[in-house]
Amino acid sequence: MSNKVMIVSGGASGLGLAAAEKFAKNGYNIVLIDINDEKGKQAEAKIKGMGVDAVYCHCDISNSAQVQQAAKTTKDRFGRADVLINNAGLEVRGSILQCSEEDWIRLYDINLKGIYYMSKAFAPIMIDQGKGAIVNTGSILGYRTVGERAAYSSSKGAIDTLTRTMAFDLAQNNIRVNCVVPGAIDTPLLRGSINDSPDPAGTEAFLGSKSVFGRMGTSAEVANVMYFLASDDASFVTGAAYFVDGGWSIM
Ligand SMILES: NC(=O)c1ccc[n+]([C@@H]2O[C@H](COP(=O)([O-])OP(=O)(O)OC[C@H]3O[C@@H](n4cnc5c(N)ncnc54)[C@H](O)[C@@H]3O)[C@@H](O)[C@H]2O)c1
Repeated sequence: MSNKVMIVSGGASGLGLAAAEKFAKNGYNIVLIDINDEKGKQAEAKIKGMGVDAVYCHCDISNSAQVQQAAKTTKDRFGRADVLINNAGLEVRGSILQCSEEDWIRLYDINLKGIYYMSKAFAPIMIDQGKGAIVNTGSILGYRTVGERAAYSSSKGAIDTLTRTMAFDLAQNNIRVNCVVPGAIDTPLLRGSINDSPDPAGTEAFLGSKSVFGRMGTSAEVANVMYFLASDDASFVTGAAYFVDGGWSIM
């Protein structure tokens, strides 16, 4: 059992919860950051049940004061921050003609400014320790177009660039920064999107066809790669965009 600490945004559900479980299995104490209090508390109980310590922080990552409070809670409770998984994200459908200015701003506030606030709040703890690892969650839609995702796709493409600039700048502090690029992963977010579509069965078949394996991925398959990228096994990996997309990007 280690005393290492992993912080994950969007930790109450989907990829974030799977990451929390993967790190907890490997002895990390977990800080779950989310805005869904019901699912956040459930996730906290689930992770504690795995024999490590966990704390749920209600924190909107687009709110600087709330992020700073979450960093303070982490420091007070655990005194460390070894791994930060910047995972929470918002998807809004629409072309530039359809997307409202309000939705555009909200999405960018969460998907990009959220990573900036979180990293700015937690990196200093890693710097004091002399080491750290950050993993950002991008998306295949930052590289491939499915239509009517102007804000989402462009924000996810920017996460790739942000990852590389952070990796370059934070290398001097012995902090590695990488991003995972998931394809279609069967999470509550994607399940909701499938069910809301005019043809759920057709949408599910379409998403399955976007992998050379003919299926969607699981949250655990992404969490395994997040864990690898944050671990010392990836000690010479930084600034990378690591595709976990079942081959969507080679099609
Ligand atoms: N599921 C996929 O197929 C897929 C593919 C590519 C990328 N992604 C990305 O993976 C990440 C996680 O998505 P998921 O599929 O697990 O979704 P999810 O809806 O299952 O989980 C997302 C979590 O983030 C939380 N959240 C939303 N806004 C927040 C905010 N402002 N502050 C804090 N928490 C917030 C939600 O409450 C939720 O618990 C997102 O960045 C998403 O864009 C998902």
